[in-house]
Amino acid sequence: MSAIISKDEPSPLPSHLIPCYLQENDIVPEFKNMVLSLPREKGWLASYLHLYQGFWHSTRQIQGVLSIQKHFKSLDNDILLVTTPKSGTTWLKAIIFSLVNRSVFPDTKHNHPLLTTNPHTLVPILELSLYMPSKSKHVIPDLSSIFKASVDSPRFLSTHLPYVSLPDSVKNSPCKLVYLCRNPKDVFVSLWHFTNRLKPESCAQNTIEESFEKFCEGVSSYGPVWDHSLGYWKVSSERPEKVLFLNYDDMRKEPFSHVKKLAEFLGFPFSTEEENNGDVTRILELCTFDNLSNLEVNRTGKLSSGEENKAFFRRGEVGDWVNYLTPEMTKKIDSIVEQKLHGSGLKF
Ligand code: A3P
Repeated sequence: MSAIISKDEPSPLPSHLIPCYLQENDIVPEFKNMVLSLPREKGWLASYLHLYQGFWHSTRQIQGVLSIQKHFKSLDNDILLVTTPKSGTTWLKAIIFSLVNRSVFPDTKHNHPLLTTNPHTLVPILELSLYMPSKSKHVIPDLSSIFKASVDSPRFLSTHLPYVSLPDSVKNSPCKLVYLCRNPKDVFVSLWHFTNRLKPESCAQNTIEESFEKFCEGVSSYGPVWDHSLGYWKVSSERPEKVLFLNYDDMRKEPFSHVKKLAEFLGFPFSTEEENNGDVTRILELCTFDNLSNLEVNRTGKLSSGEENKAFFRRGEVGDWVNYLTPEMTKKIDSIVEQKLHGSGLKF
């Protein structure tokens, strides 16, 4: 593991070039001592990653994490999508949104929210948007006015939090968790591209070699990725009614059966009539990589936090890692994963 960097090291970016998603200078007073007390390493994109409850978080993100732990209360019928970044969050948000709201938006070709709104805007990540303190201020969101929750319409939320860091109200309530994992080699390649893409032009790009070393040490946003997946894998084995554990590669291979399973798990099963009517297929078509990535909103729009929507769509392929990792890198990461997953029953 590389050395912990000095607390006095200045941000490498001049302040006028710092996009919203990189702003990190003002830690809210409520969390300042806590954040500064944590071990930290140089980040991939933001200046620092902080180690909290065994996982790494940027300075902005850790404040959202602490805020959720303190303030978020789940409702019994909440649906929470959990992923590590670059596991296919955008895709599964679109699928679950369409599935859960299909009676309100049955027409996937006209007037469907996904045609004009990025999935991350429709389904915000709790700690990165709703609970993210900004500019030294920390306003607790009023979720009841944002989501008009009722028995018929659950709140659909998302998070990248590891299981250990979920608030007790989420762990102990009957709310449902859908977890999506992805082959760590593809997650790494996707994350390396993504972070370089979000860097302002004036900043040097991360080399694949240095990023790979960090990733293997677990030092990546919400990493170590394998520990993240193992946490949810364990709970899904013990409480299958609580956590549905999905794999991006398996879903790409057999999307139809996975979406049906997902609908059943969430309590919105497709009727035979709906299935015969092509409703599952229509949702899948709406959410394909080609369809979503070619929409105007996803070609030209931005999130409120500043990221370009198109940054969330790269290639959308299974196994793209073969084009980037050397045989040595492959051997190294395979051996880490094998060692970590040994005896767990989990396979990527
Ligand atoms: P690649 O970088 O390998 O192409 P996340 O949504 O968690 O940030 O993950 C992003 C990854 O999912 C990217 O992978 C992206 O291209 C892929 N992706 C985005 N939308 C998708 C979709 N509709 N279907 C399949 N993959 C998608």
